[in-house]
Amino acid sequence: MKHTLIKTELPGPASRALAARRKACSASPMESLAPFYIKSGRGAVLEDVDGNKFLDFTGGWGCLVTGYSPERVVRAVQEQAGHFLHSDFTVIPYEPWIELAEMLAKKAAGKTEKAVAFFNSGAEALENAVKIARGATRRRGVVVFEGAFHGRTLLTMTMTHRPMPYKFVFGTAPDICRLPYPNPRRNKYAARDFEKLLLENICPEDVAAVVIEPIQGEGGFNVPPEGFLQEIRRVTSKHGILMVADEVQSGYGRTGKFFAIENWGVEPDLITLGKSIAGGLPLSAVVGDKKLFDALPKSSIGSTYGGNPVACAAAIEIIKMIDNEKLLERALYLGKIIRHRFEGFKGKYPAVKDVRGVGAMLAIEFIKDEGTWSPDTETCQKVIQEARDCGVILAGAGLDRNVIRLLLPLVITDEQLVEGLDIIDKAIAAAVKAQPRGARAKKAR
Ligand SMILES: Cc1ncc(COP(=O)(O)O)c(C=O)c1O
Repeated sequence: MKHTLIKTELPGPASRALAARRKACSASPMESLAPFYIKSGRGAVLEDVDGNKFLDFTGGWGCLVTGYSPERVVRAVQEQAGHFLHSDFTVIPYEPWIELAEMLAKKAAGKTEKAVAFFNSGAEALENAVKIARGATRRRGVVVFEGAFHGRTLLTMTMTHRPMPYKFVFGTAPDICRLPYPNPRRNKYAARDFEKLLLENICPEDVAAVVIEPIQGEGGFNVPPEGFLQEIRRVTSKHGILMVADEVQSGYGRTGKFFAIENWGVEPDLITLGKSIAGGLPLSAVVGDKKLFDALPKSSIGSTYGGNPVACAAAIEIIKMIDNEKLLERALYLGKIIRHRFEGFKGKYPAVKDVRGVGAMLAIEFIKDEGTWSPDTETCQKVIQEARDCGVILAGAGLDRNVIRLLLPLVITDEQLVEGLDIIDKAIAAAVKAQPRGARAKKAR
């Protein structure tokens, strides 16, 4: 049985009607990847307002590790909504916050005792991680990396690498220092160089935190070379700097571990979480060393809606679902199938030059010329469009927009995964006109 179904032109008439209404009233910089409008979703499949069905391999931009509307989460949301929608934890506290904080503190257990604070968005978690680091160390500097994405508020947009359409338009916040990210193909920078680079660029006594995504998300699923995260941990501890792992995108299971950073055996001082943690409801968190929170003045962090009870109720069920349905194991299983197919694409299509990632968090990179490693943005974008027209929604990534990354729900069935990968295969074939490697090499000669 096929799970995708394209029965109208895209976008269909009902989507076009919504697009016309949107044009008249919705702020134009808020773009959408898809030209059609969603009506409903279950697991990895969504249906648009014209009855077309798609496999969503972006998982709502990484927010749906447990898929669209899992039943137990919907039930918990309905039940909590029936009790109360909101009270503001800083006015009248409630149990779902405590229960979720207990669960997360347990998941992050390590050498230090853990505490948790809840917010609304990934960027807000990052803003607060920086506040906590600054407050606890009484230092100002924040070190981030090339290729990083940490959000779109003024501070987090400055921490994010991509200059356009962000800081070139809106300006920057102070005290952010960006260091190169090791990339074996583009620079010779190795894990052991981190301390030297840090000392060359900023006085370590001024640095409150080094913030790093254990696997870069928007940057193109760049996986740190062996020893890099461990070296950051060593150097930050040596200089009294805090290490913040931004797990907003990598967090909760995709890599086969609950937190991606566990893959490297490193315990950061703070972890930021967002996206998938409440299955699509707005919730984010900072989890970390309790002493750091205890060093801050009372009421110095908080947010009116942060840790909303309905979102907390959903998030509690998400963690139970990950545990009960063994989604960490499933991520590794899915990852094996995807990697095998992706390696096949690499052998078959000359434009696909790299396969990378951990667990089910996998990506392929499109390159024009292996010598200069010049990005093939055009082919990559064409593949995304072809796949979408055939029923698979894909997310691009990378500073050059030449990477396709999978953020698919881990509840996807084997059948759905294979159907989606077949569509991607056909989409690449259509985009590159299926030139086998030999033919392309001969042509080049
Ligand atoms: C690693 C990372 N950090 C932070 C953010 C910002 O999250 P939000 O868009 O919820 O503010 C994102 C969003 O893509 C992200 O991928």
